[in-house]
Amino acid sequence: VAAALAAVRPVTAFAQAMTVGFSQIGSESGWRAAETTVTRSEAQKRGITLRFNDAQQRQENQIRAIRTFVTQGVDAILLAPVVATGWTAVLREAKQANIPVVLLDRNIEGNEDLYLTAVTPDSVHEGNVAGEWLVRQAGSKQVNVVELQGTVGASVATDRKRGFDQAIAGHGNIRVLRSQTGDFTRAKGKEVMESFIKAENGGRNIGAVYAHNDDMMVGAIQAMKDAGLKPGQDILTVSVDGVPDIFRAIAAGEANATVELTPNMAGPAFDLLTAFKANGTAPPKWIKTESKLYTAENEPMKEYEARRGLGY
Ligand code: AHR
Repeated sequence: VAAALAAVRPVTAFAQAMTVGFSQIGSESGWRAAETTVTRSEAQKRGITLRFNDAQQRQENQIRAIRTFVTQGVDAILLAPVVATGWTAVLREAKQANIPVVLLDRNIEGNEDLYLTAVTPDSVHEGNVAGEWLVRQAGSKQVNVVELQGTVGASVATDRKRGFDQAIAGHGNIRVLRSQTGDFTRAKGKEVMESFIKAENGGRNIGAVYAHNDDMMVGAIQAMKDAGLKPGQDILTVSVDGVPDIFRAIAAGEANATVELTPNMAGPAFDLLTAFKANGTAPPKWIKTESKLYTAENEPMKEYEARRGLGY
C-alpha cells in the first residue's frame, strides 16, 4: 500500500498544480451545456485550475483562445473543435510551446502529430446504430426519412450522416427524402422540421426523422405536434446524445430512440494528462466513448432521473 501511495503522490501533486485551458464551442445544445458543467466539476475534483473560453460557435474565437492559452503558458489545452479543418497552424504553435492538446467530443482532419489524443465517440458507429435501429423497425415497410444534420463541417455531423447512410444502404424500402442542417439547436431543428412538413404533404409522406442530436429532435417533435402529427407513432424518431428531455419524450411515447453520448469527456482527459505530465505515459491516440442505444425498453424515466443531476 505504501509503495502504491508513493507512486500515486507525485501524480496527485502535479494534478493540483495543473492549469488547463478549455476552448469550448458554445452552448448550442443541452448536451454541450452539460459537458461544460461536467468539465468544470471534474477539474475541481482533481484540484485543476480551468481557464474556460466559450467560442460562441466560431472557429476564429477558438483559435484566438488557444493562442491566449499558449501565451499564458497553461500546462495543457482541451479543444472541442467546432469544425474538422483549419487547425494546423494554431496546433503547431501549441506543439512548439510544448503544450499538449486533447480533443474533446469532435475530431479534426489529419494532423495527428499535433494533438496528444482525442476523447471522442465513433460517430460513424453512432450513425450505424441509429440506422440499424430504423432498419429493424421498418421491416419490409416503405419508410421515408427526413434528416436533421448537425453543424456543417463538424466531424460528428459528417460521420453521423455517413454511418446512417451506410446502415440503410441496401434497404431499398428506406429512403432519405430530405436532409438539412439544424445546427444542433432546438430552435433550428423545429424550424427545419416545419419546412419539411410543409414540403411533404403536411408530414404525411414522412415515416421517420433522424436527427444528429436530441435537441434538434426535441424541436422537431414540437413542430410535428403543432402540425397535428403524432411523433413516436405516426413518425418514428431516432437521434443522438441521451439528454433528459429525450428520455422524457420516449417515456411519453413521443420519441422512439436515442444513441447515448457521455458528457464526461474531460474526466478521462484530465487523468491521462496527469499521467502524461507526471511520467510521460503517452495515452492511446483515441479514447473512444460508448454509443449505447436507448429505447422505451431501457426504462426511459429511470434514465431521465439518472441524467438530470449530471449537469443537464
Ligand atoms: O460534438 C457533440 C455534439 O455537439 C452533440 O451531439 C451535440 O448535442 C453537440 O452540440
